[in-house]
Amino acid sequence: MHHYTQGRTTSQAHKGIPEGAYEEEQGLKGFFGPVSHLLRKKPSTRWSQIDGPLKPHLYDLIKLPEAEGVKRLFHNAALEVSWQWVEKKSPDKLRGFRSADGDLLYFCHKGEGEFLTEYGLLPYRRGHYIAIPKCIVHTIAPKEKSNFFVIENLNSHYEEPTRGMVGRHAVYDINALGKPDLEAQMARLKEWHDPVREIEVKKGGERTRFTYNETVYDVIGWKGDLFPFTLHMDNMMPLMSHRAHLPPSAHTTLVARDFVVCTFLPRPLERDADALKVPFYHQNIDYDEILFYHDGDFFSRDNLHGGMLTMHPAGFPHGPHPKAFKAASSKAETNEYAVMIDSRLPLKCDAALNEVEVAQYWKSWQG
Ligand SMILES: [Fe+2]
Repeated sequence: MHHYTQGRTTSQAHKGIPEGAYEEEQGLKGFFGPVSHLLRKKPSTRWSQIDGPLKPHLYDLIKLPEAEGVKRLFHNAALEVSWQWVEKKSPDKLRGFRSADGDLLYFCHKGEGEFLTEYGLLPYRRGHYIAIPKCIVHTIAPKEKSNFFVIENLNSHYEEPTRGMVGRHAVYDINALGKPDLEAQMARLKEWHDPVREIEVKKGGERTRFTYNETVYDVIGWKGDLFPFTLHMDNMMPLMSHRAHLPPSAHTTLVARDFVVCTFLPRPLERDADALKVPFYHQNIDYDEILFYHDGDFFSRDNLHGGMLTMHPAGFPHGPHPKAFKAASSKAETNEYAVMIDSRLPLKCDAALNEVEVAQYWKSWQG
């Protein structure tokens, strides 16, 4: 298709938007495909009523019970998103876990401790991603009670994003990944008298327990390019342009076949006087979007705290709240830490979320 224009337009997206007008991006393939920018007289989030199931949702996950275990929040054929609490326990109570259903990406929202894995020890703390490939045995051993936002990849394997012309070391350097430490793990196992003699395996959503007479962590060496790793938000280097707002895809952390995981981090705001400083209004036509607010000041939304989550299904435009729009002009930087999942397949919400939904979120754009 040819690029085509009608009526009033701008020469650069997200910049020089005429006074009193609002830009809306309508794009295919999650900010990578064909795209148009519409200038409107009003934000397209000004609905006065929505009747039917297609609504934006806000959930306060902090209100979910803090009981040990995994609560599934969203699912489809490509992924499962869960909320998990893990208690500190004595070493003899530790168990192994292996998912034969998919790669697991844990994000630590609260707590600190260690993951024991077949490949070695991985320390974690708040703000860490812990990536455990499919079928790798691991045990979470918290030093303090820990809370994870977990994204399981059911139909592909996590890969690094392509960095293209910004080079291989942009966003995060591979050398910043936390590698499993086998020696440290051997020391820990010795100190704890060789715990972990059971493995629970998840396959097709069903659980099977394998019991052994000795510890399952008996690896004395390994080589290869398949292994678990960690990545901390502090070791991620967000891309930015000081002149024009970059799309969320600039903040991609890991890519799966049918979804992406992005990380939003503090960064300076665009410096040009005519640059849009809040996320642009958009229809991400092919993707349902989940945004998990980890920490900080949430820039484009009102009345949010860490541990909340929004779900914006494809099918309607969304964007910043009116107050955020006004506040942006007085800010020089963002201070938000958030994890986003964009899913090509529609996401189904699980019942656990019904209890913690913030009602009337869909009205929150109204002034
Ligand atoms: Fe969005």
